[in-house]
Amino acid sequence: MKHALGSAILISSVALSMTAAKPRSEPITPIEAVKVTNPAKVSLGTMLYFEPRLSKSGSISCNSCHNLMTSGADNLPSSIGHGWQLGPINSPTVFNSKYNLAQFWDGRAKDLSEQAGGPIANPGEMGSTHELATETLQSIPEYRALFKKVYGTDKVNIANVQDAIAAFEETLVTPNSRFDQWLKGSDKALTATELRGYETFKNKGCVACHSGPGVGGGMYQKFGLVKPYAGNDHPGAQVGRFAVTKNETDKFVFKVPLLRNIELTAPYFHDGSHWTLEETVKTMANVQLGQTLTDAEAGDIVAFLKTLTGERPKISMPLLPPSTNTTPHPDLTVAPKAATSG
Ligand code: HEC
Ligand code: HEC
Repeated sequence: MKHALGSAILISSVALSMTAAKPRSEPITPIEAVKVTNPAKVSLGTMLYFEPRLSKSGSISCNSCHNLMTSGADNLPSSIGHGWQLGPINSPTVFNSKYNLAQFWDGRAKDLSEQAGGPIANPGEMGSTHELATETLQSIPEYRALFKKVYGTDKVNIANVQDAIAAFEETLVTPNSRFDQWLKGSDKALTATELRGYETFKNKGCVACHSGPGVGGGMYQKFGLVKPYAGNDHPGAQVGRFAVTKNETDKFVFKVPLLRNIELTAPYFHDGSHWTLEETVKTMANVQLGQTLTDAEAGDIVAFLKTLTGERPKISMPLLPPSTNTTPHPDLTVAPKAATSG
């Protein structure tokens, strides 16, 4: 058909392809950069995200377990919290977490704001209480002024703390990965191996669960759908959605995790049991799809997964205001029988 067209049309179509490449229609969609509409709130949220005084010990912040210099997670099988307590579950990344249908592996928090209240008051994580955390902020005049500016009141309450942290987390997206460049029409963005890996990812059925902008985060599925996952038999194994719904059919059902930036977030799975993407991908094919991948197939999929690494936000380190004479002191004591995750 093309050869029948006049040269003028040919030239203009070349010019067009240089200016606006044609976006592809795929089950995975690009991540878009965020436009900040309330910079004062995001700036307060940034401070609170890095604020160790929200913890009982005065030494653990959100960033301790969701390190924004690395993966937005802690790269440990399970997290270490107040008094060096080892938590029961792997820390997911906060990058792109706004694309999750709900927060936590079992989806027990409906959004980022609700989630942010959990770790502060979790005895095994930041070990504080909402009262102590707000009292601490209230004792610092700079914080009172910032809350007044953003929320119209200098009486610090936990809902506003959570809201500001969530506003900051909304900005933690990682656009412009090579895969996104390809989705937006750039043919050169992927190598032949990576493209073959994406085709394999689709053909094997991975994309049935891992799709959308987050390449996951859109649904709950049983871990061990086709074949049982061995880790579900371990003592202390997590029961997933069952903990929320108490429905027998929700045992071992977890939120399908995002695969964005997956090369940064080892170890993998909610139990942090897998350290390499190759073995992770093979376990997935086996227990979710009943298939055995060859090394070559797994290698191709891993090559594709690495194209999902996007541009991490550049964050300037917030400078936190000094404590005052009325700021509660750090408390390093550990209550006996500390609880679980958050
Ligand atoms: C001691 C380590 C630790 C600290 C401190 C911590 N988290 Fe987490 N975070 C975790 C773990 C572990 C999970 C997973 C828990 C679960 O799913 O049961 C989690 C889950 C999350 C999630 C859900 C992500 C998803 O994909 O479901 C978000 C968002 C999050 N944390 C944000 C925060 C914020 C904001 C703070 C500070 C207020 C914070 N975390 C403090 C360890 C921590
Ligand atoms: C039936 C739904 C389903 C299918 C199909 C599926 N997955 Fe998953 N995937 C999940 C769930 C659920 C988890 C979380 C398991 C857990 O740790 O509890 C997961 C976890 C992962 C993880 C680890 C993510 C992390 O942050 O720890 C990777 C990588 C992954 N899947 C890749 C794949 C690949 C590659 C395929 C195809 C071979 C695939 N998945 C097929 C549902 C699915």
